[in-house]
This record gives sequence, structure tokens and C-alpha cells, in this order.
Amino acid sequence: MTATLLRGRTLTFLRWPETKDDLAACRYEEDGGLLVRDGLIADAGTFEAVKSRAGEGVQLVDHRPNLIVPGFIDCHVHMPQMQVIASYGAELLDWLNTYTFPEETKFRNAQHGRRIARLFLDEMIRQGTTTVAAYCSVHKASAEAFFAEAHSRDMLVVAGKVMMDRNAPEGVRDTPQSSYDDSKALIAEWHGRGRQHYAITPRFAITSTPEQMEMAQALMREHPDLHMQTHLSENHAEIAFTQELYPWSKDYTDIYDHYGLLGPRALFGHCIHLSEREADRLSESGSVAVFCPTSNLFLGSGLFDYQRYRGRDKALRIATATDVGGGTSYSMLRTMDEAYKVIALNGEKLNPLASFWQLTRGNAEALSMSHRIGTLEPGTEADLTVLTSRATPGMRLRMETVETLAEELFLIQTLGDDRAVVETYVAGRPAKRGLED
Ligand code: GUN
Ligand code: ZN
Repeated sequence: MTATLLRGRTLTFLRWPETKDDLAACRYEEDGGLLVRDGLIADAGTFEAVKSRAGEGVQLVDHRPNLIVPGFIDCHVHMPQMQVIASYGAELLDWLNTYTFPEETKFRNAQHGRRIARLFLDEMIRQGTTTVAAYCSVHKASAEAFFAEAHSRDMLVVAGKVMMDRNAPEGVRDTPQSSYDDSKALIAEWHGRGRQHYAITPRFAITSTPEQMEMAQALMREHPDLHMQTHLSENHAEIAFTQELYPWSKDYTDIYDHYGLLGPRALFGHCIHLSEREADRLSESGSVAVFCPTSNLFLGSGLFDYQRYRGRDKALRIATATDVGGGTSYSMLRTMDEAYKVIALNGEKLNPLASFWQLTRGNAEALSMSHRIGTLEPGTEADLTVLTSRATPGMRLRMETVETLAEELFLIQTLGDDRAVVETYVAGRPAKRGLED
């Protein structure tokens, strides 16, 4: 396969940037080069150095003056909720019952699942998102459709069918045994096939009986290398109902703990109203709290205290995510803009370098995948996003006064969306241009 040499302003992160001036946390090349071969980043550095090492016969793609960054990672999103996004007027439990569960029943129909899976991944690419941790519906066919679509695009995804056997309409319920059997079959068929990864996905404690939670526990024991994703401590009414259903539990986190679902590959969506004890348990177990700012604001769920969770003695691992369709944007740029505002309401500021760290390397670390994605390190997989800070007249005008890289990143985050994404490379191949509108 011929190699491609990308030229542009390259930016990747080495560690968490303490301040907006902490350039030692990143590697930024004003005239950078990335050699891409067989889906991997084969070489990186200054354009001249990479070019001289690359030899003859490479295809050059010049992205100057645009920025080339690692592809964005969305750590919690619901594929079957593309026709739920923008549903008016409800908090979490009503929103689930009124809009979400009825919509997800449509995924009984495998053809519907295939159509939405295709449109969903098109939308991710359009937004510069190259990896998602996704929830499918309860139906095995929805996960099959999702993996088949991701596999055909060679996208690295983490996904699973939700397990849910109570407190939901019949059309979106499984049983403890069928959820185990279907998850098992999906794992056998898809986990480790190409870039596909399975996540055991009990939706949340409210929609699983204790018997089903035991099935999730059995799956985790049998497949300790798998991710597990669920929801935790999103909304006060949800927390109260959960306590009623599991009266023996110390708190919400204790339920998942009891069933052995905490750990370094466990992704807990929301985690807004955690007690200190719960935060300690998540930290001790290496579990990940997933911050979904647009969803938390839209559903009126609350303000995730990012800086406190990061800064506490027992720090939490944190990821960020859209949580579409509770979330209101597919864009991780819009998501980080709203994250900035939520953090501001908690009296802190998230510096722009830290934002872009979170979007890329930070979210890759949260998935325990930074050796494969989330950076521009040679040997890693060539999922890339090319950004322009001049996507709109307003951005162009504001750019006239921008002087530093941090200011430019903050502008892209604050005003940017899919229009700021010039191209998205998936496993080294350009994937955005050519998508239908
Ligand atoms: N809790 C259980 N299911 C869901 C869901 O689909 N979205 C959100 N935001 N919270 C949930
Ligand atoms: Zn969710």
C-alpha cells in the first residue's frame, strides 16, 4: 500500500496540560509531517524531517494552514437516539418513558437499525469523531448492524447491546438469559474482529433485575478484558428510585460494586451527584466517570464537578461525551464548549490545551486505548481530524486578533462545529469528503 505524507500544523499531547501556557505538555509542529502507511502513523515530526526519511513514492496531501490533531473520541453516545435528540420538556425518567424507549422499540426492525447505524457513523465522521463508546438498543440486531457498519469503515468502536429486563415497555425488554446469550453471541462474533470492541452494557440499575445484574457480572468474569458501560447518578428521581429497587445498597455505586462491575474498563455515564464514598470507590477501582455536559444541561440533571473530581486526593479518571440523544450536539467541540461553561458554573476554568487533551489523549486514556488512538505517536492508528479555525465569517474575523495556539484552540472550541472539521481520517483513509449532505 502506498504511503501518504500529510503536511499541516500537527498537535498532539504528552500529558495533562496544567495551564494554557503549558506547551511542554504537547508536541506542536508549525510545519508538521505525518507519514501514514497501512492505517498506522509510520512517522511524525517536522515536515522536512519526515519527508526526508520517507523516501520516494509517497503521496503528499497538504493541509496547511490547518491543524491536524488525533481523531476525537466520544466516550458515551446512544446510536438509536438520532430521532430522540431535541425532544422537548422532560427530565430523565419521563424523557426515557416518553421519547426514548418508544423510539428504541423501532430497532426490532433490523433494517431500521442498519439505516440508523450508517447515518450515525456518517455523522460521527462529519464531526471529526473517529471512536465512540456506543450504546445500541436492546435488540441484538442493532448491535450487529452497528458493528457491521463500523467494521466496513475500519472504525475503532466500543459498543454493546443494552441489557434491560424491567421498568421499560415490552418492545425494549430482554430477559436475564436472553441478554446473556445475545451478549455472548455478539462477543464471539465481533469482539476483536478488526477494530471492533464489545462493551457489556447493562443500561442502568433501574432497568435490570438483580438476576440480570448477575448475568452482567458473569459476562465480566468470563471476559475481563471487555469494557462495561452503564449510567450512574444522573438525576435525583433516578437515584431515589434506584435506592427503592436495591434497598440493601449503601448507595447507587454500591449496586454496581456488588455485582463486580467497577474497574478500569468500566465507564459510568454522568456521575453528577456522587457522595464522597461513591467517588472514593470509583477512584479506588480505577473506574471512569463520563462527563456529558450538553445532556446534563438539557435534561436539567446537574453540574458535573470536573475540577473537584480531578483534584481530589483520590482523583477520578474522567472522560467526556455527547450522550446523544440526551445530549444536544454530535460535536465534541460543542461538547467541550458546554463543558467549559459547566466548569465555569462550578467556579473553575478548563484551559484550552486541557480541553483538547481531554478530547483526544484524555478520552483515549479513559478507554485504556492511548497506546492505539488519541495521539500522533508513530506506531499508533491513523485516526485524525483536520481542523480549520476559519470555518465561518465570525471565526475568520476573530482569528484576526488571535495570537497564541491556546487562543486559537479556544476559538475552535467556542465557535466551531462540523464546519471546522475539514477532513477526518479513519485508519489512514480520508472519510469525510464524499459523504452525502
Ligand atoms: N439512563 C438510562 N438510559 C439513559 C439514556 O438513554 N440516556 C441518558 N441520558 N440517561 C440514561
Ligand atoms: Zn446515556
